[in-house]
Amino acid sequence: MKSVKLGRTGLRISQVVLGSMQLGWLVREDDAMDLLDAAFDAGITTIDTADIYSKWAEESYAGKSEQIIGRWLEERGIRDEVVLATKVRGEISNNPNDVGLSRKHILEAVDGSLDRLRTDWIDIYWSHWPDPDVTQEETLRALTKLVDDGSVHYIGASNHNAAELMESLWVSDKYGLARYDALQPSYSLARRRDFEKYLEPVVKKYNLGVTSYSPLGGGFLTGKYSKEETPDSKRAETTKQRYYKERNFRILDTLEEISEDLDATIPQIALAWVLNRESITAPIIGVNSKEQLEENIEAIELDISDDAIHELNEASDWRELDELAR
Ligand SMILES: NC(=O)c1ccc[n+]([C@@H]2O[C@H](COP(=O)([O-])OP(=O)(O)OC[C@H]3O[C@@H](n4cnc5c(N)ncnc54)[C@H](OP(=O)(O)O)[C@@H]3O)[C@@H](O)[C@H]2O)c1
Repeated sequence: MKSVKLGRTGLRISQVVLGSMQLGWLVREDDAMDLLDAAFDAGITTIDTADIYSKWAEESYAGKSEQIIGRWLEERGIRDEVVLATKVRGEISNNPNDVGLSRKHILEAVDGSLDRLRTDWIDIYWSHWPDPDVTQEETLRALTKLVDDGSVHYIGASNHNAAELMESLWVSDKYGLARYDALQPSYSLARRRDFEKYLEPVVKKYNLGVTSYSPLGGGFLTGKYSKEETPDSKRAETTKQRYYKERNFRILDTLEEISEDLDATIPQIALAWVLNRESITAPIIGVNSKEQLEENIEAIELDISDDAIHELNEASDWRELDELAR
């Protein structure tokens, strides 16, 4: 697996990042250790987590994913070989200060993440989504302190819109603070518009790295969802709510045709399309088993033709939606 440079920084990450939202939730802790081993052996050296993973699940709690990764890193003794990314912003407890992007919460939350991850530093620390109650200056001053003291090496913005991202760059520039050098948006064949229309011009102009999430639309772009059938997955209801739209089924039909032509699977084609997007530094994949991992990383080697990419671009074109809304 190749390594790729993250935007203007000197940091290199693996060309596919392992997501970890499912560890301790969809994947039991012992299986999670095997899955982390398999990903690392396959060359995935960059891991994405968050302090709130996966607090919404009955079988999990906030911080469980970080704990599993921390245990794995310590037992394997490979912290130096891994690029580790985690996030702050979500609600950790009922304490009114245990949420958001205030100085107080960031400075406390980072200690919690470092403890659970059993490490002295976080390579990329993400603001998980914006906090309208806190000025960007307060947030960026707190994050700059962490960069200065070495507990965080780079900072990134997830789920920010273009105006929020631009404001952050302006505030960092104005006050000489650390700036977000990476963006983490949702991006797939079924979710192109927000990134391509608004965010991509910003990341290109200011040279931000992009590690995009949900490249398979939470499982929708795998071929196991159809109008008639829903797979046996704990994510199925959310995935249906988000992706069951007529145009997304059109995209699935095109994926199916191309997968037959290229003798590859539907998730491999959907991932190969993201991997071929110039502005995407590395997609973050979510896998629940070694089988899914093995299948998905084969997308890296897939020789997807320009014609196939063109067909997928046409099937998922969002400009027609803009025309309709005019
Ligand atoms: N910043 C954010 O706000 C944010 C939000 C979401 C995710 N993320 C990060 O991004 C990572 C990836 O997101 P995601 O999990 O939504 O990615 P995804 O790749 O769109 O969806 C992954 C899901 O698809 C199914 N799947 C994957 N490979 C498959 C295969 N080969 N065959 C059949 N089913 C397959 C699995 O679910 P089932 O088997 O249960 O169907 C898996 O959990 C997360 O782990 C997390 O680290 C970040």
